[in-house]
Order: sequence, then structure tokens, then C-alpha cells
Amino acid sequence: MPKEPLKTDNPGKEDPNIDLTLRPVVWDEYIGQEKIKDHLKVILGAAKKRNEAADHLLFSGPAGLGKTTLAYLVARDLGGTVKTTSGPALEKVGDLAAVLTNLNPGEILFIDEAHRINPMIEEVLYPAMEARKLHLVVGKGPSARTLTLDLPPFTLIAATTRENLLSQPLRSRFGATLRLGYYTIDDIKRILERSAGILGVKTNEAAMDILARASRGTPRVANRLLRRARDFAEMHDKEVIDEAAAQNTLAMLEVDEAGLEPQDRRLLMTMIEKFKGGPVGINTLAAALSEERGVIEDIYEPYLMTLGFLQRSPSGRIVLPAAYRHLKIKGRDDLL
Ligand code: ADE
Repeated sequence: MPKEPLKTDNPGKEDPNIDLTLRPVVWDEYIGQEKIKDHLKVILGAAKKRNEAADHLLFSGPAGLGKTTLAYLVARDLGGTVKTTSGPALEKVGDLAAVLTNLNPGEILFIDEAHRINPMIEEVLYPAMEARKLHLVVGKGPSARTLTLDLPPFTLIAATTRENLLSQPLRSRFGATLRLGYYTIDDIKRILERSAGILGVKTNEAAMDILARASRGTPRVANRLLRRARDFAEMHDKEVIDEAAAQNTLAMLEVDEAGLEPQDRRLLMTMIEKFKGGPVGINTLAAALSEERGVIEDIYEPYLMTLGFLQRSPSGRIVLPAAYRHLKIKGRDDLL
């Protein structure tokens, strides 16, 4: 059966980081995250049987793991379209009201970066989620009135990289929370092979293994490395992305074999050299690196913790022995 493109009402507002050509459009193309797919299929299957809008869903997990992609797969499964917005884009209550009143029955409302929704807007979201009511205050002062509008059945899908920053009242209004974790090397290899097929580029197994190990368990990173390796092969008149092409690509990007980028190494080295490997508080670390605390917490730390290179403890962050070994530095390794 020919694949239709995913339906969307506002293609211009899609996450620019999502590579449309490589994005899976049917469940079978979505590799990995098996438990989440199974869970979703039950939720969606039951909703379809009952002929109701599916429960509101919360997708949480690090950036680049496919939360937006999943939202589009859910929409396609339900035969509906998606309207997309994000926490920071909803500046005023009116912004949310405009989005909600424009929803078609059965449509998906996707709110990215949900941890950045402002509390005033959250208040409007609660009755919309629970009772499909939009309460608006019109007018000011003594003449202010509340206007209540009925909303069509819809499913809210909210995505967040920081589930802990979501308020409890908001969290409790989702029918299910699906937590995406980093992909295994094998899954990333399969994603790379699929993407290489779509891009029409030949690869070998060893090269895919090298790229997969450097992809931080993240499809978005994997696809970016693949594109750069394709550029490298093309520039060197190679027909195949082989081991040398993969290794040279990583060297060019200053990505090491475990996927660490210069910023990750700088973070670890700063902790080791300036703070004896920790414990060091997150604010102190952020100041030493001239980096935002949120970026450290969202982007660097989750992957470093997965590798067992870093630990968060009540007294601060600590560099673990595996990091010293990886960086080939003597240190705690000698003590432990
Ligand atoms: N791109 C992003 N996530 C993906 C996945 N899980 N499978 C295949 N391609 C992807």
C-alpha cells in the first residue's frame, strides 16, 4: 500500500529538528521502544472500539528520541490530524484558547516542551482536558464575566524532557505517561540501516556499528552522523560508507567512539580539574562552564549518567571511575 504523507494542519510549525524524509510514518517503521508501542496500541485500539477520543497522553524523555514522531503515528493510527504548539509559544491564555477552539473533532493537540507552559495557561488547560470546557474571562473589573465554550473531543499529547518540572495537577490529568529511554546500539543500527536505505547510500556493517556507538542512543543524532558520513564518503569518491569513512567523520565532528562531544568532555574535565571530580553543585558547575543549568541537566547529564560516567548525588555531581578510564586520566580510578 502506498504510504500517504502524514496529515498536518500546520506543516510550517513542525519541529525543524525532525527530519521529515527519515521520519517513520507507520508503526512497523518505528524501531525500538517496544513497550511504549504496545501500550499505545492498546490505548488507541480501545479508544477506536469505543469510538471515543483517546485519553490524553504524556511523552517524556530526552530530546531526539522520537516523541514528536510518536505523536504523529498516534494521529495517523486514529485517522486524525495534529495541531502543534509548544509551552513557550503559548504566551497568553488567548493563545491556548485560539488553538483549542480551532480543533476539529478527534484531532490531536500536540504541546511540546510542556514543562514550559505558564501556570495561568495551565489553569485553562485543566477543564479543557477534563471536561472539554473552555472557561474564558471576558471584560475587566466588576463587569468581568466568565464565558464557557464546549470543545470537540480531542486528545492532548504533551511532550517533555523534564517530567519532574511538570506540576502535579497537570501530570495527574494524563491517562498515561510514556517514558522513552535511550535506544540500544542494535536499535540504533537498525535505524541507521533504514535511513541509509531511504537516503540511497551504501554502508557496511562495521561502519554502522561505529556510528551507532557514537549516536548517544538517540535517533536524531544517529541520522545526523549518517548524513555527515555520507558527505564524507561523497567528497572522497567512496561509494560505500566504510569503517574509515565512519571514523573520519567522527574525528571531523570531534565526537569520540562513545559519542562524547567536546562539550561533554569539557564538562567532565572541568569537574575533574577544578572540583577534584566532585561532588560539585549544579549551579557552581553551570557557572564554571558558562552554561545554563537546564542545558547541563537536559542535554549533557542524562547521557553521561547512562554511560555510568556521572552521578547525581544529594551533595552534588560526581565523576565516576568509568569516565576516568574513558578519558584515560588517572584519578579516582586509582582510589576505587
Ligand atoms: N526516527 C526517530 N525515531 C525513530 C525510530 N524509533 N525508528 C526509526 N526511525 C526513527
